[in-house]
Amino acid sequence: MANIPIRLSRLRANETLRSMVRETTVDRGDLIAPLFVHHGHGVKKEIRSMPGQYQLSVDQLKEQVRKLWDLGIRAVLLFGIPLRKDSAGTESWDDDYGVIQQAARMIKKILPDMMVISDVCFCEYTDHGHCGVMAERDGQMVLDHDATLENLRLQVASHARAGVDIVAPSGMIDGAVGAIREALDEFGFTHIPIMAYSAKYASCFYGPFREAAEGAPKFGDRRSHQMDPANREEALREVELDIQEGADLVMIKPALAYLDIISQVKEAFGMPTAAYNVSGEYAMVKAAAASGWIDEKAAVLEILTSIKRAGADLLITYHAADVAGWLR
Ligand code: PBG
Repeated sequence: MANIPIRLSRLRANETLRSMVRETTVDRGDLIAPLFVHHGHGVKKEIRSMPGQYQLSVDQLKEQVRKLWDLGIRAVLLFGIPLRKDSAGTESWDDDYGVIQQAARMIKKILPDMMVISDVCFCEYTDHGHCGVMAERDGQMVLDHDATLENLRLQVASHARAGVDIVAPSGMIDGAVGAIREALDEFGFTHIPIMAYSAKYASCFYGPFREAAEGAPKFGDRRSHQMDPANREEALREVELDIQEGADLVMIKPALAYLDIISQVKEAFGMPTAAYNVSGEYAMVKAAAASGWIDEKAAVLEILTSIKRAGADLLITYHAADVAGWLR
């Protein structure tokens, strides 16, 4: 045995062989496309820091989701940009006027099999830009988790009535998954799954998104409820709690700087796991590609393959439409 020369390169000699032994592939069915929904008609406003991404009014969104469907994408994640912000974010649970609600009704009407996932949070809807109700504690304004849970119940019930298929609470509010499960069940939506942003880090990579969704905090930051990027064990506790509270899918966010977390969460829990390839990750690739410093297609496919290889089943990515086109 000692003399048998082992050459792993034998299986790398040509593309056919390589594809036969390839361990990870990105499929169109893995992709979830995030979309920003705006009030009004005929609105298609490009997001400066996210080239190729737009704020769309419902009529424009209709074209976009049809295009995504034709490309083979079967799931979209909706973010709403309200017309009127207030301290509680009341527009987020308005059945008739809420933009997510309008968008969900439209999509389910034209493409009943397109999975509509709604981002469930308040930061886009509040005038202070925080992810819930704020209250004063020891002379400081802090997030009031319990009051926020009450409003989250109203928001998910309204999304569900509009036809949303999956709700995705993104605020890292303690107890949110449990409260949302309870509310959905109470209102008769026992069949609607929850995709929990379980391990969401307080990351600088959300920068471009805050411009896109017009949801930057007016004061302070989100480090009091989103996770410290330095923590790994805490992520496992967060995921475990969300599973206990009823999460059907768990998510790690961002993706690229957190591949170790994706890998460990998948290994520890064996849950359907999503990873969010966030706005800042998208913007970096776009900027480097625009300068001619990187091959965009190669970079995107390598990044998404790596996120899948780490353990993610689902990839939430602004590159979704491009990737689906390349894979066709
Ligand atoms: C909060 C939310 C954020 C993102 C998704 N949901 C921003 C934040 O927490 O500040 C970021 C997504 C991205 O950067 O692409 N509703």
